[in-house]
Amino acid sequence: MRKPLMAGNWKMYKNVSETAAFFEKFNPLVAASAHCDVVICPTFVNLAAAVQATKGSRVEIGAQNLFWEKEGAFTGEVSGPMIRAIGCGWVIIGHSERRQYFGETNETVLKRTVATLDAGLNPIVCVGERLEERESARTTAVLEEQFRAGIAGLTPDQFERIAIAYEPVWAIGTGKTATPEIASDAHRFIREQVADKYGKDAAAKKRILYGGSVKPDNIKGLMAQPELDGVLVGGASLDANSFAAIVNF
Ligand code: PGA
Repeated sequence: MRKPLMAGNWKMYKNVSETAAFFEKFNPLVAASAHCDVVICPTFVNLAAAVQATKGSRVEIGAQNLFWEKEGAFTGEVSGPMIRAIGCGWVIIGHSERRQYFGETNETVLKRTVATLDAGLNPIVCVGERLEERESARTTAVLEEQFRAGIAGLTPDQFERIAIAYEPVWAIGTGKTATPEIASDAHRFIREQVADKYGKDAAAKKRILYGGSVKPDNIKGLMAQPELDGVLVGGASLDANSFAAIVNF
């Protein structure tokens, strides 16, 4: 009953011609993939080209971040209404790389999520523990705090429109995928937080994605877990064949 959401996070990769070339190859490969929603998130400068290249296809386009003000003297920033106007449907919020390198906190995650919703866009809100947090048995405490301070400030109506991505930081770009069991445990814990705050119904409906070294050769095992409602894919989303293999798991 939860339709899988297969999302690609291109991070700071690909220029405009590489973007167009990707979709020329990718669109036909996923044209029949009605079992899931497919979203790709290129850099800001390639959003227009990506929207153009996916017109009439089943692929939707998202941004990787936004600023929470609608407009103003904020040099270097991009707002939700601007992203919406270009034809995007989604925004990744609170990715661990933004938390690690660009000062993202649970508080700014919440502000960006609200701004995303206000602009009529769907947020994919990222949470996940770092290696030292997992090794010191603080995984659930970290996830609990990220949920409490970064997500639970949403109203039930707002919350209904978000997807959550569980991305253990130690699994991102490292080739170390969380085992399907580790991922499932974390998803179950997050779903419990959701149930406590928003109720059992909301928890049963919520799409929780897994991210971290998802590849064509581990997608089946991950998606076999009832707790996993899709994936957020970095490296393996850059190649049309490899991401199509993931989408069509
Ligand atoms: P990865 O990245 O698939 O390259 O590990 C995942 C992510 O950062 O969303």
